[in-house]
Amino acid sequence: MMQPPNRQLAICFYPPAYDIRVESIPIPSIEHPDDAIIKVKLAGLCGSDLHVYRGTEGVSEPCVCGHEFVGEVVALGSNFHPNASGRPSLYSTLHVGDKVISPFTVSCGECHFCHVGSTCRCVESRLFGTPHTPGGQAQYVRVPKAGGTVYNLQEVSATREIQKLDMKETIPNLADSSLLLLCDILPAGVFAAFQALNHPKILPMVTSLPFPHSSIRTFGDNAHSTIPSLRPEATDLTIAIIGLGPVGVCTCIAVLDFLYTRGSDFKIIAIDPNESRRKKVAAIYSKISCDQPRGFLEVADINESKHVVSKWTNDTNCNAVLEVVGNNSALLLAYDLVRPFGCITSVGAHANSSLPFTGQELFDKNVSLDFGRCPVRAMFPMALDILLRRQDIFGEVGGEVSLIDKIVGFDVAKKTYEEFDKGKCGKVLFDPWR
Ligand SMILES: NC(=O)c1ccc[n+]([C@@H]2O[C@H](COP(=O)([O-])OP(=O)(O)OC[C@H]3O[C@@H](n4cnc5c(N)ncnc54)[C@H](O)[C@@H]3O)[C@@H](O)[C@H]2O)c1
Ligand SMILES: [Zn+2]
Ligand SMILES: [Zn+2]
Repeated sequence: MMQPPNRQLAICFYPPAYDIRVESIPIPSIEHPDDAIIKVKLAGLCGSDLHVYRGTEGVSEPCVCGHEFVGEVVALGSNFHPNASGRPSLYSTLHVGDKVISPFTVSCGECHFCHVGSTCRCVESRLFGTPHTPGGQAQYVRVPKAGGTVYNLQEVSATREIQKLDMKETIPNLADSSLLLLCDILPAGVFAAFQALNHPKILPMVTSLPFPHSSIRTFGDNAHSTIPSLRPEATDLTIAIIGLGPVGVCTCIAVLDFLYTRGSDFKIIAIDPNESRRKKVAAIYSKISCDQPRGFLEVADINESKHVVSKWTNDTNCNAVLEVVGNNSALLLAYDLVRPFGCITSVGAHANSSLPFTGQELFDKNVSLDFGRCPVRAMFPMALDILLRRQDIFGEVGGEVSLIDKIVGFDVAKKTYEEFDKGKCGKVLFDPWR
């Protein structure tokens, strides 16, 4: 649909819930010298949009949806110039016409949290797709603190971490649809896997050394090298992944990738009540496991999962449970499935006022509980590495093992939200110009 000058089409949410409208709204303009305006090429629909859509996030004003977008810079604020010294490098190197992807939250690149890698907790953090930060399911989006927030794809190839991967030549060949997965869901899956498998309570199974010798040396620990390795049966690693939406799929792939890389033995139970989502994970697993001698993954619905885990572990349960749903029933399942002295890593977005277990229940099982947003910028190199190596899953659209189901226009936005909400499709991207 042609738009009058200075106007654009955008997918908007109207409270309280389930009300999606495609509207003609003003094209955003530079409001602050650190801003960039991006012409969106593709925007993702994510499980996090569903929390707003279902009214469980408490969004009480209309807003432009979406927090995953890839696009081209069409305007830059006055703080972008060749002599912008002492600021993140993009303030001096980003140009109109550059292709960028954006993490789903704003980060300044200049505060303590940005420096140490917990970029999701930047002091300037804002979530795209909320009333005060209009989202990327639009033809244009304004990115605040753009010099700290976006990735310039030309520059990504030149960063030290990526050069180490020796894959820089292939980055410009990636499809926009594939790049879009770096805005949120692939880093989030990698984050879940990384946190769980590096957890001090999981490291004994990964390193074959008992706790705490499995972790970095503690003061006075000179006996490290004399600690005998654990018997092989003591290092059996059992993991549950709860929720097999697009983020759950990314989590499964990241966990498998880490374990294959380490040559570890493992059993993974991948759980979702939705049969089509279980089938997708089963198909992906059979594709990526065919040349791997170790470990296995089984899919299950919620009830089956309890029986399988009890049988596998002789009722001792899972070392780690990764919760990728974002509701209390999934958290309760995570608690039921976790072993004493185990860890629950949750990346599901939770807005409930209380948890489905008590402090005493956590104490009595020595359960560690990890929560929260993914620091996309910190996880980016690892996510890009997996994205490049698993183009069979992340590169195509609509295939049996493709993570992305389809790319659609804004004309079917309302129907697509309805379908995704009911789990009738997998990852969907919007092309705002179709
Ligand atoms: N922490 C982060 O930074 C981050 C990033 C991206 C997404 N998320 C969150 O991750 C979650 C998943 O995102 P998605 O895009 O895959 O969403 P999705 O809604 O497509 O997938 C959720 C899946 O969980 C399943 N499910 C529902 N209840 C369940 C239960 N009790 N047990 C097992 N499975 C259950 C559903 O059938 C569905 O397949 C959402 O909460 C989203 O907000 C968090
Ligand atoms: Zn998202
Ligand atoms: Zn910051």
